[in-house]
Amino acid sequence: MDHRDLKRILKHQVALFPVLLFGLFFFLQGCSGNKESRKFKIGFSQCVGSDLWRRTMLDEMKMELSLHPESELLYTDANNDSRKQIEQVKEMIEQGIDLLIISPNEAMPLTGIVEETYNKGIPVVVIDRKTSSSLYTAYVGAENYQVGKIAGEYLVSIIKGQGNVLEIMGLPGSSPAIERDRGFTDVLKKHPGVKLTAQLYGDWLGRNTEAQLLKNQDKLRDVTAVFAHNDVMAASARKVLRSLKMDNNIKVIGVDALPGNGGGLNLVGNKTLTASVLYPTGGKEAISIAMSILNKEPFSKENILQTVVIDSSTVQLMKLQWARISSQQNDIERQQTLLADQFKVYNNQRLVLNFIVITLVLTVVFAGLAFHALLENRKINRSLEQKNEEILRQRNQLIEMSEKAEEATEAKLNFFTNISHEFRTPLTLILSPLEDLQKNEKLTASAGRELTLIHKNVYRLLRLVNQLMDYRKIENKKLRLHATAGNLIDFVRDIIESFQHNARKRNIDLRVIIKEDPKLVWFDVNMLDKVIFNLLSNALKFTSDNGRIYVTVSKDESSAIIEVADSGVGMNEEELKQIFEQFYQSDTSYSRGSGLGLSLSKELILLHKGVISVTSRKWEGTTFTISLPLGEEHLSADEKIVQEKQEAKLYDEMKIYTFDQDKAGLPAPDDSLNLIKEQSILIIEDNQELLDYLCRKFEPGYEIFTANNGIAGLSAAYEKIPDLIISDVIIPGISGKDLTNQLKTDIRTSHIPVILLTAQGSMEQQIKGIHSMADIYMTKPFNFEYLQANVENLIRNRVMLKEHYISDISPSGSKKQVSNVIDKKFLNDFAGIVEHNLSNENFSVDEISRSIGISRVQLYRKVKALLNCSVTDYILNRRLKKAKYFLTNEDYTISEISYMVGISSPTYFSTVFKAKYGMSPTEFKKGGR
Ligand code: FRU
Repeated sequence: MDHRDLKRILKHQVALFPVLLFGLFFFLQGCSGNKESRKFKIGFSQCVGSDLWRRTMLDEMKMELSLHPESELLYTDANNDSRKQIEQVKEMIEQGIDLLIISPNEAMPLTGIVEETYNKGIPVVVIDRKTSSSLYTAYVGAENYQVGKIAGEYLVSIIKGQGNVLEIMGLPGSSPAIERDRGFTDVLKKHPGVKLTAQLYGDWLGRNTEAQLLKNQDKLRDVTAVFAHNDVMAASARKVLRSLKMDNNIKVIGVDALPGNGGGLNLVGNKTLTASVLYPTGGKEAISIAMSILNKEPFSKENILQTVVIDSSTVQLMKLQWARISSQQNDIERQQTLLADQFKVYNNQRLVLNFIVITLVLTVVFAGLAFHALLENRKINRSLEQKNEEILRQRNQLIEMSEKAEEATEAKLNFFTNISHEFRTPLTLILSPLEDLQKNEKLTASAGRELTLIHKNVYRLLRLVNQLMDYRKIENKKLRLHATAGNLIDFVRDIIESFQHNARKRNIDLRVIIKEDPKLVWFDVNMLDKVIFNLLSNALKFTSDNGRIYVTVSKDESSAIIEVADSGVGMNEEELKQIFEQFYQSDTSYSRGSGLGLSLSKELILLHKGVISVTSRKWEGTTFTISLPLGEEHLSADEKIVQEKQEAKLYDEMKIYTFDQDKAGLPAPDDSLNLIKEQSILIIEDNQELLDYLCRKFEPGYEIFTANNGIAGLSAAYEKIPDLIISDVIIPGISGKDLTNQLKTDIRTSHIPVILLTAQGSMEQQIKGIHSMADIYMTKPFNFEYLQANVENLIRNRVMLKEHYISDISPSGSKKQVSNVIDKKFLNDFAGIVEHNLSNENFSVDEISRSIGISRVQLYRKVKALLNCSVTDYILNRRLKKAKYFLTNEDYTISEISYMVGISSPTYFSTVFKAKYGMSPTEFKKGGR
C-alpha cells in the first residue's frame, strides 16, 4: 500500500462519516423506546352535529382519542341530510380511513353505504342510530326500545294509570324514533286507563316540534302527559304549553338527560321537564372499541349502554355526579397538558443523548481508523525506505558504469586522436609527390582528372584531421588563445577573397558589408580563420548557384560582430537546436561532413570569450553571428601576444578550406556521346566529385542524367523516366529516402529501380533504407565494380521482365514477379482493359489512358518500360493470340474470327497473322499449327 492508497482510505472514511451519522441516528431513534405504532385514520360520520347531545358525543370521543395519539379523527357533519351523509362516507373511504364510526341519519338510506364500507374490509362501528342491516363490525348505544319502555312505565306511574298522552317522535325512519315509539306504545297498551291521544313528528328538533304543536293545538286539549323522544323536543312542548297557558301540571318527559347548560338535567332541575330518560352518547365507548378493533384486540359486537329515568328525586344526585366527573375530567386534561410538556422535555433530552452517543461511537470508529491508517503509513514508509535504498544502489552502479564508459570513450578518442595525428605525415608525404606528378605535362586528361580528385581529397582529409586534433586539444584544455590586436575587416576581407573565385563561377553574390568598423579587435588569427573559413565553406556548399552570401562586420557597445548570411537551403527547428553539437549530422544540415566543424567553431569562439549563434528558416537561408568582446580586459596576459606572424598559416587553412569548393573542377562529360545509349541512369548526388566520378564511370554504357539536389532529381526522374536511379541518401532538398518513396508510389515512375548510396551504414539505417522501397541500399565507401554489377543486374531484370510480358502476353497466365505493387496493378488494369475491348475495332489508346488516369505519353513510356513494346503492338498481339485460340478451339469462319478480334478487314487480318505466325489463318486452321 502506498500513500495514495492511504489517502484513498481516508477519503473513503470521510465520505463514510455522514452515512454513519445518519445510520446511527436512526438506529438510536429506533432503540429509544418510542415504539409509536402506525398512525390510524378514523372517520366519524355524524348525522347532525349541531345539538348539545352530539357535541357532547364528539367531545367524549376527542377526550378518549387523546389517550391514543397515534390516531387521527376525520369528522363530517351531514346536517340531517341522508344523501349528504352517503357522499361524505364515500369521500372518507377515498381518503383511506382505517375504520368508520357512523351515526346513520336514517336507517334505510344509509344501509347500503355502511354495508359497502364493511364489505371493503373497513371496520364499521355504528353508534346511537342503526341501519336496517347487521353488516357492521360493532354497535354502541343504549337500547332505544328500552328507553321508550322505561319512559312509558314512568309516565303511567306518575299519572297513576289514568290520562291522555301525546307522543312527540323523532325523525321518521331513524331507528331511535321507531324503537322508542315501539317500547313506549307497548307499555301503554298494557294500561287501558292511559290513552295515546295523539302522535306528532318533531324530527328531533325544537323548532319543528313547536311548529307542529302550534299547528295541531287541538291535540293538546285534555292532555295529561307528553312524551317527547328527546329533551329538546320535550322542552319545546313545555314552551308551547306555557305559551298557551295550559295547566302547568301536565307532565312532560324527555330523553337524553344531558348535563350542562340547556341539558336535560337542568331542565328537570328547573321543573321544565318532569323527567328525562338518560340516553348516554357512547362517544368514549365508540373510540375505545374502535382502537380495540384497529389494534386487533378482542371486542364485543353489540355494546349496549345503560339507561335510567331521572326526575326531581334523582336529578340533584346526577348533577353532583356530573360535576364530579367533569372536575375529574378537568384534572385529567390538566395532567395531559403536563404530560405533553414532560414529553417535550423528554424528547429534547433524548435528542441530546442520541447526539452524545453518536459522537461517542464515531469517535471510537475514527480512532480505530486513524490507528489503522497509522499502521499502514508505517508499512508504506518501510517499503519506501527499501525502495530508496534500492534506487541508491542502482544509482551508484550507474555512476560506476558511466565512469567506466567515460574512461572507455576517452581511451577511444585518444586512440582516434593519435591515429589522426599519425595520418598527417603520410598525407603530407602523399601531397608533395602528388603535386609533382600534377606538374607532369605528359599526363593524359583522364589521369589529370583523377589526380585532381586525389589532391582535393588529401586536403579534405588534412582538414578533418586538423579539426579533430584541435577539438581534442580544446577538450584537454591544451589549446590556448594567442590573441593579437588586429584589423578585423582586413582579416575578413582576406578570407573572403579566397572564396571569391568559386563564388563567381557559380554566380553567387559573395560580398563583405561594413556597417561599422570595430577598429582594433583582439583575436587569435589561427582560430578565427578556421571559424570563418568553416562558415563560408558551409555557406557556399548549401547555397545554390545564383544565390547570395553576405558577410557583415559591425559593432555594438561591447562587441565586434561578424555575420555570415546565406540564401541557402536553411534548417528546420530540430536541426537548429543541435547544430553546434559534437558529431551531429542531419540530412541537409550545415554540420554535415565530419560533424565537427561547427562545434569546433563554437569552442574556438568561447576561447575568445565570445558568442556564436545561428538563425535559419528552411528553404530561405541561414545566418551565423559571431560576437567578440571589444578591448583586452577579458583576456589574461598569457592569452595575448604582441608580434604578428600569421601569413603562412593563413594560407594553409585557406587551401584546406577552399580546395574542395571547386564544383566545376572537372570537365563536363561529352553530351554528344550519350545519344546512342540504350539505357539511361539518373544520378542524384550533391558531392560534385562523386557525381563527376560516377558520371565518368557509367558514361560508356549508359545515357546519364544528373541532379545535385532532391528537387532537381525528382523533376529529372519525371521528365526523363530513366531506366535506373542512383541517389545519395543525404542530399539538399528532399532526402533520398523520401525521393524514392515518392517515385515508387507514382505510377509514372514506380517501375524505375533505385539504388540509394549512404554514409549511414548501421543495420538499422539499412533496414530503414529498404523500407523506403529502394531496390538496393549501398553504404559508402562502396566498391565501384559492386555498384556497377548491381546496376547491370537491375537493368537486366527489367529487360527480362519485359521479355516475359511480350513473349506471353496473357493477362491471366503466371507472371514473373513484378516487384512493385503499383506496377502489378498497372499491368493488371492495362491488360484487363485491353482484354475487355478486343472485339472493339474502334478501341483506342486514348481510352486506355483515360481509364487508367495517365497521359497518352506516360502510358507509352510505362508500357515501353515494363513490356518493351508499344501499346498498339500489344493490342495487336493480344488480338492475334485470341484469334489463334478461336482457330484452334472454335468452329468459326476466318472472317467471323477476324470480326471477333476487332479486325474489320479479313485480308488485313490474314496479312498480320501470317507476319506473326509464318502461316495464314486458313493454313493454321487446317492443322499447320
Ligand atoms: C340528538 C338526538 C338525541 C336523541 C338522538 C337519537 O341529535 O336527537 O336527542 O336521543 O339524537 O338519535
